[in-house]
Amino acid sequence: MKKILVTGAGGFVGTRILAQLGDRYEMAAFPRGMLASADRGQVLAAVRAAAPEVILHTAAVSDTGYSEAHPDQSYRANVELTLWMAEAAREVGAKLVCFSSDQVYAGLPGKGPFGEEDVRTPANVYGRHKREAEQRGLEILPDAVFLRATWMYDLPGYGLPIRPNLPLNLLRAALRGEEAVFSPTDYRGVTYVRQAVENLIPAMALPGGCYNFGSENPLDMDATARAFCAAMGIAPRLTPGDRVRSLAMDCGKARRAGIVFDDTAAGIRRCLADYGLDSF
Ligand SMILES: NC(=O)c1ccc[n+]([C@@H]2O[C@H](COP(=O)([O-])OP(=O)(O)OC[C@H]3O[C@@H](n4cnc5c(N)ncnc54)[C@H](OP(=O)(O)O)[C@@H]3O)[C@@H](O)[C@H]2O)c1
Repeated sequence: MKKILVTGAGGFVGTRILAQLGDRYEMAAFPRGMLASADRGQVLAAVRAAAPEVILHTAAVSDTGYSEAHPDQSYRANVELTLWMAEAAREVGAKLVCFSSDQVYAGLPGKGPFGEEDVRTPANVYGRHKREAEQRGLEILPDAVFLRATWMYDLPGYGLPIRPNLPLNLLRAALRGEEAVFSPTDYRGVTYVRQAVENLIPAMALPGGCYNFGSENPLDMDATARAFCAAMGIAPRLTPGDRVRSLAMDCGKARRAGIVFDDTAAGIRRCLADYGLDSF
């Protein structure tokens, strides 16, 4: 059984990797909280001791607003830690698969969808740090795989941690009678996290490089929110906003390598079906 070492195993994605893939791989994880303070030597020693065949690197400061306010913490977590993982993976001969982000496209003009080569200097700290990690990580370990993930979601349940996401934000607005604002000039994909976790299996076999990774979305975010509400049978007060942005990705490179996602509107239907909520 292939041995996988998961970083960020207490996080939104990491917990789901352990829960979902745990019966198909031998799983190891860093102790909770360790990677927020470990130095390079401790990280390398821990990877050496675990001797994995694959490292799935999800540990990060993953909040864009927090990264903007705390760039030093973001740099350590999102750049330095990733480079230490690349060094460690090279030393033990492990395949390294890292989560990057669609935020590397922040600030690009036009609607997209953007291909992997379209990236320039991202407009926010988090995006710039994710981009630097990709570039320098690939210099250390050209065989490493960087997955540019979209905003991801799940429903609460199974004792797994949850974080603000599109369906939850819409449900909350509907329950509380609050206004929800989404802009018809804002474009991005939104992905059901369990499909992303399942697609980590083929991602472990990808050649080194950067890959857009998630559900594509031809709709703007106002239309996307309305499609999610229709699927969930809820009717919060939706107000069109004026944000102009595109993080929309063309995922053809991953698709040609066999990694297939539902499009964004179909993803929520898969999620609801998984939870037995599709017939309501
Ligand atoms: N969630 C999304 O919608 C989304 C979208 C695009 C990209 N991503 C990327 O996908 C990956 C996983 O995201 P996620 O949502 O699972 O993140 P998360 O829930 O915030 O979890 C990240 C984990 O990283 C570890 N961590 C926290 N602070 C740290 C620090 N200062 N230094 C080092 N490690 C720290 C913790 O692991 P332990 O609890 O094990 O200590 C934490 O649980 C990240 O690289 C993120 O940037 C996520």
